[in-house]
Amino acid sequence: MSLKHAFWGVVPAAGVGKRMGANIPKQYLPVSGKPVLQHTLERLLSVEALSAVVVALGLEDGFWPDLPFADNPRILVADGGKERADSVLSALNRLEGLASADDWVLVHDAARLCITRSDVLKLIEQLEHDPVGGILALPSSDTLKGVTDGIIVDTVDRNHVWRALTPQMFRYGSLHDALSSAAELGLTVTDEASALELKGHTPRIVEGRPDNIKITRPEDLSLAAFYLEQQCCE
Ligand code: CTP
Ligand code: MG
Repeated sequence: MSLKHAFWGVVPAAGVGKRMGANIPKQYLPVSGKPVLQHTLERLLSVEALSAVVVALGLEDGFWPDLPFADNPRILVADGGKERADSVLSALNRLEGLASADDWVLVHDAARLCITRSDVLKLIEQLEHDPVGGILALPSSDTLKGVTDGIIVDTVDRNHVWRALTPQMFRYGSLHDALSSAAELGLTVTDEASALELKGHTPRIVEGRPDNIKITRPEDLSLAAFYLEQQCCE
């Protein structure tokens, strides 16, 4: 692994979990005895290459102090924002003066607790010499339909369609620039790659594992618990 540029983690964890519909934000729901966010951060911290991980927290977040990261020198916190992209930008601002423009930033959703160390290392190894960077993604196994008003209008060639996962790995300077521009233009970007694409960059994809799910709805909790258990036996 190259020592030329540092690697930083950014974890947006400031969402309210509307689709989950629980009485606490989904990143604090327990899965296999630990809050979702604790699983996620422990897995990222197991990657020695990451100098530090910035966690973007909701302004009203009263749960964070109960997690065992307060004294961890590799964990930094930042205020979250209105949308996910605002939270990521706020975390990037926290790295000002620490990260250099060409350093790599790996942005990973708090809600993706089944991320494996091996997938993070694969992403780093495949992209660290790339000028732009890229994302973990999965080819679609279902046939995909374009639909308008409940009617199928076309069948999308699934060889050209991938599902975007995280981490998404880009250079600190160009990611900050791309997210700032999208915010100034009032464009909502749901992942980092789309912000880079808007700037004319061409991010790469690295095939990730299908168990890297994002906890979104209640049924995802037991699926995540199952995947965590399976991963323990690998
Ligand atoms: N996120 C964030 N700041 C926001 C919105 C989302 O940091 N303003 C984070 C979430 O905490 C989550 C990740 O971005 O880890 C992915 O977002 P999503 O799965 O949509 O989470 P929520 O926005 O919390 O869920 P929902 O859309 O159902 O409300
Ligand atoms: Mg959301």
